[in-house]
Amino acid sequence: MDLFKVYKLWDIEPVRGLDTTLWDKDGNEYTDLYGGHAVISIGHSHPHYIKMLSEQLAKLGFYSNAVQNSLQKELARRLGKSCGYEDYSLFLCNSGAEANENAMKAASFHTGRAKMLAFSRAFHGRTSGAVAVTDNPKIRSPFNTCENVTYIPLNDIEAAEKELSSRLYAGVIIEGIQGIAGIYEPTDGFLHELRRLCTKYGSILILDEIQSGYGRTGKFFAHQHSGIRADIITTAKGMANGFPIGGVIISPEIRPEYGMLGTTFGGNHLACTAALAVLDVLENEHLIENAAKMGEYFRAAFHPDGKPDHAISEYRGKGLMIGLQIRQEYAGLRDRLLFEEHFFTGAAGADVIRLLPSLTISVATASRFMDSWHRLTR
Ligand SMILES: Cc1ncc(COP(=O)(O)O)c(C=O)c1O
Repeated sequence: MDLFKVYKLWDIEPVRGLDTTLWDKDGNEYTDLYGGHAVISIGHSHPHYIKMLSEQLAKLGFYSNAVQNSLQKELARRLGKSCGYEDYSLFLCNSGAEANENAMKAASFHTGRAKMLAFSRAFHGRTSGAVAVTDNPKIRSPFNTCENVTYIPLNDIEAAEKELSSRLYAGVIIEGIQGIAGIYEPTDGFLHELRRLCTKYGSILILDEIQSGYGRTGKFFAHQHSGIRADIITTAKGMANGFPIGGVIISPEIRPEYGMLGTTFGGNHLACTAALAVLDVLENEHLIENAAKMGEYFRAAFHPDGKPDHAISEYRGKGLMIGLQIRQEYAGLRDRLLFEEHFFTGAAGADVIRLLPSLTISVATASRFMDSWHRLTR
């Protein structure tokens, strides 16, 4: 059997990592400003993470959700405290798409409504419900019906009111910052209005913080820059530094019922331990503060005279969720950064480079990246 080939692969195989450094199987060294797609929040092979996971594995790796699991309770308590949603409750699953599926299901159960409002260019995952609210027909099969979904432009409050006032919508799902679209932010004003409209018309406000959450933007969740509160928040990626996990953080207004949501693997002992280790490191090493600080570093470095660097037309994002809109003359820059300068970065389409490094990134590493950038764009 061979692999079902659904990815475009670079011919590089990382086999070892330490903080923001990766080594391939031939011993070549790379710097990781991609974080394995915004997943590696506390750096590769963090000693505390290794210790906690190894100790837990030696005790108990998995048991089912039919029994008590105090690691889950501890994770809910610690996560609530860290993110400021202490009065909410946590449902654990295994991935971002699954977190969004469960969030939309909870919103639909709660309101008794079927429709979901989503945004142009949004990405929420590839399972049936998540892909239905993803504005990309290319990744939606005929089976993935989106008849209950309406897409409106980001930041269009009139369109939001027109739809929500029908009182047919179970919820609105919105990324804290749109990631795969190329790093586009909802404005503070839009989020405040959306919050008001959801309350007014009885719809659940779901914030997808799968890519933008866990401290990446300099606050625990990106929507917290605007000061609004969501009804449901979904999280995954950086939550356990690569150990598969997803979380749905649910308002006390939404009452759980036996059997409403469920999973075999979600919240297993290893996943919870990995997530607890991440919270420890975020706190002990003040990584959310570092994300804010390093975001300012990159913003300043890409605006040398107060204007965007000559190779980009726009710098978008917050903290360490950065989108660089590349000018046409510099097409192919991402590949050159990788193959000539050994920096992993992310992309969004052909003309946006995304920087999604670990929250541990230092000024020394960022400044080495800027040196490489200037060498290639001179
Ligand atoms: C905003 C957002 N939501 C959902 C997902 C889906 O997460 P997963 O791939 O873990 O299912 C992603 C993945 O890139 C994402 O960026």
